[in-house]
Amino acid sequence: MKVLVIGGTRFLGRHLVAALLARHHEVTLFNRGRTAPGLFDAVEEIHGDREQHLDRLAGRRWDAVIDTCGYLPRVVRSACEALHGAVERYVFVSSISVYARFDAAQIDEDAPLATLDDPTVEDVAAHYGALKAACEREVQAAFGANALLVRPGLIVGPFDPTGRFTYWPQRLAAGGEVLAPGQPGDPVQFIDVRDLAEWIVRALTRGPGGAYNATGPATPLHFGAFVAGGIKALAADPPPTVTWCGERFLLDHGVKPWTEMPLWVPAAEHGIHQVSIQRALDTGLAFRPLAATVTDTLAWVRSAHYAAPADAYANVGLSAAREAELLAAWHAQSAL
Ligand SMILES: NC(=O)c1ccc[n+]([C@@H]2O[C@H](COP(=O)([O-])OP(=O)(O)OC[C@H]3O[C@@H](n4cnc5c(N)ncnc54)[C@H](OP(=O)(O)O)[C@@H]3O)[C@@H](O)[C@H]2O)c1
Repeated sequence: MKVLVIGGTRFLGRHLVAALLARHHEVTLFNRGRTAPGLFDAVEEIHGDREQHLDRLAGRRWDAVIDTCGYLPRVVRSACEALHGAVERYVFVSSISVYARFDAAQIDEDAPLATLDDPTVEDVAAHYGALKAACEREVQAAFGANALLVRPGLIVGPFDPTGRFTYWPQRLAAGGEVLAPGQPGDPVQFIDVRDLAEWIVRALTRGPGGAYNATGPATPLHFGAFVAGGIKALAADPPPTVTWCGERFLLDHGVKPWTEMPLWVPAAEHGIHQVSIQRALDTGLAFRPLAATVTDTLAWVRSAHYAAPADAYANVGLSAAREAELLAAWHAQSAL
């Protein structure tokens, strides 16, 4: 297939392109040429800003487009208009954040979506999920049954610019006493970027369209098993010890869920770690072992390719000093 990728050079995109090339698809990249120009040998690059230079795609045809960097419905609508008649299928990388609520388990693709009170708002940081849902509607309106809406959960693995999952292999490898959040039985979901890329590429060629939650693993994973699995995979000698600090304690000490304490959300939002992935499983979504994701992520951190999280993600994870302070407070409280 001839595939246009809008984006393609930071995280998910670079793994998507690798998966496309591995299956001998012909890839064209459209991006600004800022993030990683020339990343792939023998891949055509058209450089331009999707907000200004869509005319650079005029007169061309592809079997499909994969759009990894659509955040605003206005911008996605422009791409749909520019590519209507030029591509058969539009794959839009959305997010499970499109759902209106996470107060229940097994949210499936038909659950209510987040909406914008003001449809003109474009503050992505404040309205990420509702804006992604609005982007989906643009793609659906333009491409109907040929719109494939991919709703990933937390995407993890090598080249993740956000540092959230990466915190855990780094922290477990560093050893000592590790602060773990909540209860060992709390749910957790994420997907290795390479498994997601592989599934998207297969879904692209198989059709039909529709919306798909895409996270993992196949059977429920608990935080305790995640941490224990990470420790086992990294095989540090001596292994770290793990102290579970309860939700009330963390909230009382101002620990910020998800970012300061990566992957942790309070129990009221556990639904975000329990979404239904049955529809994607039925179409072949498959997962590598947790150990591979953990060790490959740490190998990337220790490689020359690693770039520490920056900008909005610069402060992801507990600092060593903050963790030590919290653990001391936890033990002092437990001793009372
Ligand atoms: N990370 C997660 O856990 C997570 C979870 C759920 C969903 N998602 C979604 O997954 C997607 C993953 O994004 P990614 O960053 O990994 O994708 P990516 O395709 O690897 O990187 C983003 C690409 O977009 C290009 N780009 C950015 N702004 C552009 C513009 N104005 N015009 C043209 N090209 C532009 C960048 O290149 P240049 O800078 O060179 O232009 C880069 O190639 C996002 O849609 C995100 O919402 C992520």
